[in-house]
Amino acid sequence: MKGYLVAIFLSAVFLYYVLHCILWGTNVYWVPPLEMQQRNKIQSCLSKPAFASLLRMNNGPVLGHEEEVGRRTTFRLFYPESVFSDPSHTDPNTTAVLIAFKPHDLRWLLELLTGGKINTNGFWKKPALNLIYKPYQIRILDPFIIRMAAYELLHFPKTFPKNQKPKHPTTGIIAITLAFHICHEVHLAGFKYNFSDLKSPLHYYGNATMSLMNESAYHNVSAEQLFLKDIMEKNFVVNLTED
Ligand SMILES: *[C@@H]1O[C@H](CO)[C@@H](O)[C@H](O)[C@H]1NC(C)=O
Ligand SMILES: *[C@@H]1O[C@H](CO)[C@@H](O)[C@H](O)[C@H]1NC(C)=O
Ligand SMILES: *[C@@H]1O[C@H](CO)[C@@H](O)[C@H](O)[C@H]1NC(C)=O
Ligand SMILES: *[C@@H]1O[C@H](CO)[C@@H](O)[C@H](O)[C@H]1NC(C)=O
Ligand SMILES: *[C@@H]1O[C@H](CO)[C@@H](O)[C@H](O)[C@H]1NC(C)=O
Ligand SMILES: *[C@@H]1O[C@H](CO)[C@@H](O)[C@H](O)[C@H]1NC(C)=O
Repeated sequence: MKGYLVAIFLSAVFLYYVLHCILWGTNVYWVPPLEMQQRNKIQSCLSKPAFASLLRMNNGPVLGHEEEVGRRTTFRLFYPESVFSDPSHTDPNTTAVLIAFKPHDLRWLLELLTGGKINTNGFWKKPALNLIYKPYQIRILDPFIIRMAAYELLHFPKTFPKNQKPKHPTTGIIAITLAFHICHEVHLAGFKYNFSDLKSPLHYYGNATMSLMNESAYHNVSAEQLFLKDIMEKNFVVNLTED
C-alpha cells in the first residue's frame, strides 16, 4: 500500500518534468502558425502529425467523431467522475492524466490500481468503477497546475462565503494551463460556450445543453470566458473553431 502511494506521489512530482522533456524533444515538428491559420477545417489541422501533442478532456470521444476531432490523443485529462469506463474507448497510445481535486480522487485511483473495493462516497457523481487504461498509462497532474489556473489565470478568491460553493476551473482551462507549460504554441478547438441559447449543445458529444453549465455552482464560466477572450486577443493561443 505505502509503496504504491509513494510511487503515485513521485509520479505526480515528476509528471511536469517528464512531459516537459518529451514535448521539448519533439516540438521541432510544429508547423508555423501562419500555415495553420490558412487551413479552413479543424480536421485538417488535428489530423496533421505536425501537432506534437493533442490534449483531450474528460470523456470527449474520438470513436464515432474522427471526422471532426481527429484520432490521436496524446494526453487525456480526467477526474474519477468524468473518465471513460467503456472499453470501446481504449487507446493504448494515450497517457491518461488524473486531475485530483480532492483526497477521494487519489484514494479512488489507489483502490483501482490495487484491486481494492471502490468506495463511491464523497463523489458528486458516481465515479468509474473500472479503469480502461493500463497502470503504465496513468499519470497524476501536479496540483501546481490547478492552483495556477484557479488563482493566477482565473483570479478566483481563495475563500468563498459559506453560502457559495468554492469554484474550480473547468478541465478545459486546466488543460490550457498545462499546455502553456509544456508547449511552444497552443491551439484551441471547440471552446465555444454560448449562453444566449441555453438549449444549444454543451459538447460535440452527448445530449447535455448549455443550461447545465448555466446552473453549475462549481464553475465560474464568466471568469473563464473573460480569460479565453483575453488570451485570444493577446495571441497567446489560436482559436481553430469556426462558425
Ligand atoms: C498506436 O500507435 C502506433 C504507432 O504509432 C500505431 O501503429 C497504432 O495504430 C496506434 N494504435 C491506436 C489504437 O491508435
Ligand atoms: C451565440 O448564439 C447566438 C444565437 O444562436 C448568436 O446570435 C451569437 O452570435 C452567438 N454568440 C457567439 C459569441 O458565438
Ligand atoms: C441522446 O438522445 C437521443 C435521443 O433522445 C438518445 O437516443 C441518445 O441515447 C442520447 N445520448 C446520450 C449520450 O445520452
Ligand atoms: C442562467 O440562466 C438564467 C435564466 O436564463 C439567468 O437569469 C442567469 O443569469 C444564468 N446564470 C448564469 C450563471 O449565466
Ligand atoms: C465570476 O467571475 C467574475 C469575473 O472574475 C466575477 O466578477 C464574479 O463575481 C464571479 N462570480 C462568482 C459567483 O464567483
Ligand atoms: C472561437 O471562434 C469561434 C468561431 O468564430 C467562436 O464561436 C468561439 O466562441 C471562439 N472561441 C472562443 C473561446 O472565443
